[in-house]
Amino acid sequence: IPCHVFRDAKDASVYVAQQIAHTIRERAEAGRPCVLGLATGSTPTTIYDELVRMHREEGLSFAGVVTFNLDEYFPMQPEELQSYVRFMNEHLFDHIDIDRANVNIPDGTLAPEDVLAHCLEYEEKIAGLGGIDIQVLGIGRTGHIGFNEPGSSRESRTRMITLDKVTRNDAASDFFGEEYVPRRAITMGVGTILESRQVYLLAFGEGKSRVVARTVEGDVSNSVPATFLQLHKNAKAIFDEAAAAQLT
Ligand code: F6R
Repeated sequence: IPCHVFRDAKDASVYVAQQIAHTIRERAEAGRPCVLGLATGSTPTTIYDELVRMHREEGLSFAGVVTFNLDEYFPMQPEELQSYVRFMNEHLFDHIDIDRANVNIPDGTLAPEDVLAHCLEYEEKIAGLGGIDIQVLGIGRTGHIGFNEPGSSRESRTRMITLDKVTRNDAASDFFGEEYVPRRAITMGVGTILESRQVYLLAFGEGKSRVVARTVEGDVSNSVPATFLQLHKNAKAIFDEAAAAQLT
């Protein structure tokens, strides 16, 4: 995976936001929708800040943009503090001119028996729009992308998964205790992610340096699902110096 190491997370995020803005404008000129795959968590927030700034100050319009988020906890109500619907509204959608009908986030409110059909629909909707133009990814300490935890296959599609213990531990403070972190989530699959035309994998901070080195330099294996990005023709890894510290 080609790696770009930036001085800090801010510079890195501005770079990725500029790439996204470029594609949005290109698609708008061609009269085609721009399809973005989005992540939550601490890593992409500065990208969203920068996109909001470009909307306010530079007239960047999201009118022709369709978004698909990677994942959502299950079960999860949209108004709950930890919901990814709420996260995306607060960090991005409330501040831009996107058509809410064009926002897609896996639905954490469904009855378990309805999740499979919802996942198939999610996949069909992405495919019906011609696929994802740009996918933004963070990485978990388990090597997950989306919530594709160790054991997820290269071919996996949007589905319900069980969260890894490490991931639930990392989310414990958001939920005021590990016992309150949902055990499951709905996530796009590795196969879904690999079909995106362009992927940006972002990691910031020394806490990610170990999994980053394993992802970039280790063998491709479902024990670290992010290594599947080595198989993507157009994936770029975007790091700050701390996250890149263990690369040889
Ligand atoms: C979030 C997601 C996760 C996070 C990862 C890193 O939608 O898909 O894979 O990107 O857990 O989280 P942060 O950025 O909070 O370190």
